[in-house]
Amino acid sequence: MPNPSGKVLSEGKTKIVRETERSDVVLLEFKDSITALDGEKKDILRGKAVINSHISAYLLELLEKNGVPTHIIEFIEPNMMRVKKLNMIPVEVVCRNIAAGHFVKNFPVAEGTPLNPPVVEFYLKDDARHDPMLNEDHFLVLGLASREEVKKIKGLTLKTNKVLSKDLKAKGLILVDFKIEVGRGTGGKIYVGDEINADSMRLREVGTNRILDKDVYRKGGSMEEVLNTYVQLYEKILGKKPPIGGTQSG
Ligand SMILES: Nc1ncnc2c1ncn2[C@@H]1O[C@H](COP(=O)(O)OP(=O)(O)OP(=O)(O)O)[C@@H](O)[C@H]1O
Ligand SMILES: [Mg+2]
Repeated sequence: MPNPSGKVLSEGKTKIVRETERSDVVLLEFKDSITALDGEKKDILRGKAVINSHISAYLLELLEKNGVPTHIIEFIEPNMMRVKKLNMIPVEVVCRNIAAGHFVKNFPVAEGTPLNPPVVEFYLKDDARHDPMLNEDHFLVLGLASREEVKKIKGLTLKTNKVLSKDLKAKGLILVDFKIEVGRGTGGKIYVGDEINADSMRLREVGTNRILDKDVYRKGGSMEEVLNTYVQLYEKILGKKPPIGGTQSG
């Protein structure tokens, strides 16, 4: 893979953020690492960077076309996105259409139960504290965002849910839930940032109900099964084979 030269601003579990020639633009380089359990379980999945970056760019561009402001500027082969540099709000915004994951752990609701209306939840990004759940008051007292911003973030999330659910359904996929991250751009405008892919969505295949997301890894699937899942998701969303094979770095 090409080695981008910009100074590294930060490196997370799955992406590297680099400076560009413009102060308001950063380069997100996706890595082949896969993690779960707040980073306690980790592996390298060759090809994941290419697959996840392509899916993210496609879905972020889809949101843009449908009036949801996102950070994407352009995709750069094979595994990078030029994006607006955001002042990230350190919160994970989750939207649930069907009960799964933490929702069934925390509430007396059976897995697979449709949730109407979709449930929007907020979690503080804090691995050491296992991402505690936040309500609107927490945003204020922790200095994360104003009430107006929280309302804006919830609106953006529900619109994102509609746009993603519709596109994915047409491709034979049920959007069970997803996570987004948001940030402030110039003038304080809120944008959807980060990534949207098999790491951040739960998806089921229409008809078979087969899992097509990172749950295959979380539940202990072999790396071959996990890669196969990511490849199949790419094929369903992008309608072609992923450009992987040979060596990937990360
Ligand atoms: N447009 C953007 N501008 C600036 N930073 C961004 C942008 N989009 C995403 N980021 C940040 O890039 C960082 C690296 O991503 P990655 O997903 O690898 O991190 P992580 O390990 O999940 O979590 P952490 O944020 O705790 O490092 C994240 O902190 C994410 O919030
Ligand atoms: Mg992340």
